[in-house]
Amino acid sequence: MATTSERPVVTDSGIAVKPVYRAEDAGLAQPDPGTYPFTRGVYPTMYRGRLWTMRQYAGFASARESNERYRYLLEQGQTGLSVAFDLPTQLGLDSDDPRAEGEVGKVGVAIDSLRDMQILFADIPLDKVTTSMTINAPASVLLLLYELVAESQGVSSDQIGGTIQNDILKEYAARGTYIFPPRQSMRLITDTFAYCQQRIPRWNTISISGYHIREAGATAVQEIAFTLADGVAYVDAAIKAGLDVDEFAPRLSFFFVANPNFLEEVAKFRAARRIWATIMKERFGAKKAQSQMLRFHTQTSGASLTAQQPLNNVIRTTIEAMAAVLGGTQSLHTNGFDEALSLPTQQAATLALRTQQIIGFESGVADTPDPFAGSYVVEALTDELERQALALMEQIDTMGGAVDAVERGWIQEQIADSAYSYQRRVESGERIVVGVNRFTDEEVSNVPIFKPDENVAREQTEGLAKLRAERDSAAVETALENLRQAANGTENLLPFMREALRHYATVGEVCGVLRQVWGEYRPEVRL
Ligand code: 3HC
Repeated sequence: MATTSERPVVTDSGIAVKPVYRAEDAGLAQPDPGTYPFTRGVYPTMYRGRLWTMRQYAGFASARESNERYRYLLEQGQTGLSVAFDLPTQLGLDSDDPRAEGEVGKVGVAIDSLRDMQILFADIPLDKVTTSMTINAPASVLLLLYELVAESQGVSSDQIGGTIQNDILKEYAARGTYIFPPRQSMRLITDTFAYCQQRIPRWNTISISGYHIREAGATAVQEIAFTLADGVAYVDAAIKAGLDVDEFAPRLSFFFVANPNFLEEVAKFRAARRIWATIMKERFGAKKAQSQMLRFHTQTSGASLTAQQPLNNVIRTTIEAMAAVLGGTQSLHTNGFDEALSLPTQQAATLALRTQQIIGFESGVADTPDPFAGSYVVEALTDELERQALALMEQIDTMGGAVDAVERGWIQEQIADSAYSYQRRVESGERIVVGVNRFTDEEVSNVPIFKPDENVAREQTEGLAKLRAERDSAAVETALENLRQAANGTENLLPFMREALRHYATVGEVCGVLRQVWGEYRPEVRL
């Protein structure tokens, strides 16, 4: 039996490293921040040059109500926007589509047309703020609406900055808001890369996401491996579509979770940066440093929030946010303490933002790039997470890559297995969750709950009827027909989609044309 001093450090994902006590036994030498392979961060000065972007994910009900929340958060010191869309919008359905019933404006803002998008960004100058949009299957549609809004504000396309999530592979594997079959989805994604290269050079064309994979139950190793394997698939597809890696790769971005297991999370971000830089340089021959940098957004873990003793979530979110900052995130969302119960109230969303501001302006951790460099336990965890993630990525490569592994359901099975074993550890009490399976005093918490506006569906339906009555229907029909022809061919689809949207074609109508031509993805049922 190992004595206490020999007992290994074991993380949430079961990574064990020996508790080295002598600095000379730890691998200390690390290239500087801003230097390949960027283990210590992507910029030489990191937060001394610029703090991470405080980018709170928000959106609910109608464009008007979400616009009010965005302008409030910007007044409170938020430095970037992040749009949450409702499920109908994420699935390319209009608010008056029968399949949208009960979901309009629920988990995010309802956007049906250019008119809604103009309301969403009213009095927000799009040349002064960057905006992330959590949208995947119809990502190109919402990007074009954003570009059209900027144009209506007199802001040229090459001045706007932001990100579309646009990561369809993790939707098949973990999140579920897909529409089209994988191959057609990949075409839309590479069309978007090409379109942005030409017209919106500052736009981050994809946010390759590990967040939802981890939140579905994956381990830290799987989060790194499955996310970066998706990244490899997108780079492969873009190169096969004839794009130059050093043209599109600088605008790839990533999105990870920050879990409460602090040291493992700090090491996870460092390992992911090193693996990605190596893949881009060695495997894809990327020459530009920007092509090799893994720039990422972090959201603190929604799955770690508890409905029991909800104020405990303030502490969890703070620990998680600190891990993201010490791991070198470029952009950060901190969850509201009430989000295991509902969308965040304004008070909870403000406290979440203040959490970031206190870390950034009071804790001092932003003054030193990668403060954990040389820490024997974090360097050892970084090395071990890298080793195990590379081994898992090799397994995916032998299956033909992430698209094949997803189509076979293998990635989904791996995640489900990890989720099951974690849940068993919680049920058995081996994994303590304070307030849930330990220290469960029946504290009565009268936490105010956010109540979304119930009239959104009716408002949206009335708005759509008005829009269809007022727009130039002939121009809409012609533009949609041209899109249909193009979807049967190989031309870049975005200019055709843009023309239709400019004439107030709706999100549902544009996606409806593509549904008719390509069909919808139906995963075979795996018993
Ligand atoms: N030295 C020099 N330059 C620096 C610097 C430094 N220290 N720090 C920053 N900069 C520069 C950068 O180079 C950049 O310049 P550019 O505009 O010319 O490129 C500029 O300052 C802005 O810095 P970043 O690009 O690092 O920061 P951004 O915030 O603009 O971008 C990102 C960060 C990760 C690259 C981007 O993709 C992003 O913002 N992603 C956000 C994604 C997001 O919010 N997702 C939410 C998902 S919610 C969800 O899915 C969960 C739900 O399903 C539950």
